[in-house]
Amino acid sequence: MTEAQTVTKADWGKMPDGKSVEIYTLKSAQVEARVTTYGAHLVSVRTADKNGKVADIVLGYDSLAGYLADKSYLGAIVGRYGNRIAKGKFTLEGQSYQIPPNNNGNALHGGPVGFDQHVWSAQQVPGGVELTLVSADGDQGFPGTLTATVRYTLHGDSLRIDYSAKTDKATVVNLTNHSYFNLHGDDAGDILDQRLTLFADRYTPVDAGLIPTGVLAPVAGTPLDFHSQHTIGERIHADNEQMKLAGGYDHNFVLNGKMGEMHVAASVVDPTSGRTLTVTTTEPGVQFYSGNFLDGTLTGRHGIVYSQHKGLCLETQHYPDSPNHSNFPSTELKPGAKWHSTTIFTFGTE
Ligand code: BGC
Repeated sequence: MTEAQTVTKADWGKMPDGKSVEIYTLKSAQVEARVTTYGAHLVSVRTADKNGKVADIVLGYDSLAGYLADKSYLGAIVGRYGNRIAKGKFTLEGQSYQIPPNNNGNALHGGPVGFDQHVWSAQQVPGGVELTLVSADGDQGFPGTLTATVRYTLHGDSLRIDYSAKTDKATVVNLTNHSYFNLHGDDAGDILDQRLTLFADRYTPVDAGLIPTGVLAPVAGTPLDFHSQHTIGERIHADNEQMKLAGGYDHNFVLNGKMGEMHVAASVVDPTSGRTLTVTTTEPGVQFYSGNFLDGTLTGRHGIVYSQHKGLCLETQHYPDSPNHSNFPSTELKPGAKWHSTTIFTFGTE
């Protein structure tokens, strides 16, 4: 590591069953990030704006109680299968599996009790923390004992997340981080005036349940074209079927970069604070979600109400419902193989 960085650990309360929860604080000259062992949530990311004013740029709660009641996956690691599986059903090696539906008849983010609702074991590593969760064979209906590891490390202006997983029986895996970013700071306005670039020529159009139709459609000529910078609000109410189905942006973008190699997925600029965010990943897709379903019923840190479009998610991932689309990159993991992915969030100002 090139710069002085510190990692500290503190108690963060107890689960209803008495299990202890911890919080780790990762600090560099530019960024302070906090990660809890409950759901491996990224609780807080504090950075300075162009005038040196520091704010939290992810949505979150003050305490464990907020996360225990959360239904919107604020900062969570979602798994075993992030995003949707149609009707919660898929077939693997001739066997049918059923994940209990928890979102309009489909399985979302790993089913009713996903990885976001477990206490992970943790150990400090240079510059960060490594969290591990063992999900039993049959957990939420998925086959195979899956051991998942998520390592958060800070490197100056960059927060790196390395994911890995192994199984003892063929299964499916799609792990991601579900942070809601707001580059204004969590106490100031929504994300509609922030400027987004997506490095994607295509996306996966969805049906009314937000399940991909299987087509990889060009973004060109649609409100989903972010080849050049556009504010998020500019076309969010456009007369476009896909935008209406999702109530805004809630789509998986097919990244142009090569899967398995680091490539830039997205960048966000806030013209007011000057803050920037760049997302780099090995994953083939990114779900851009503009916080459409935040409806003001959630109150976050410091009593701030999370109304619609208060935060935006850039969830690096394999495509939704991949187990049911043989033309999508496979999410299958076999015993003896290791599943890996890396995503880096780089924070700056301009
Ligand atoms: C999904 C949204 C969902 C949100 C919170 C996102 O990953 O794409 O449809 O509302 O997670 O659950």
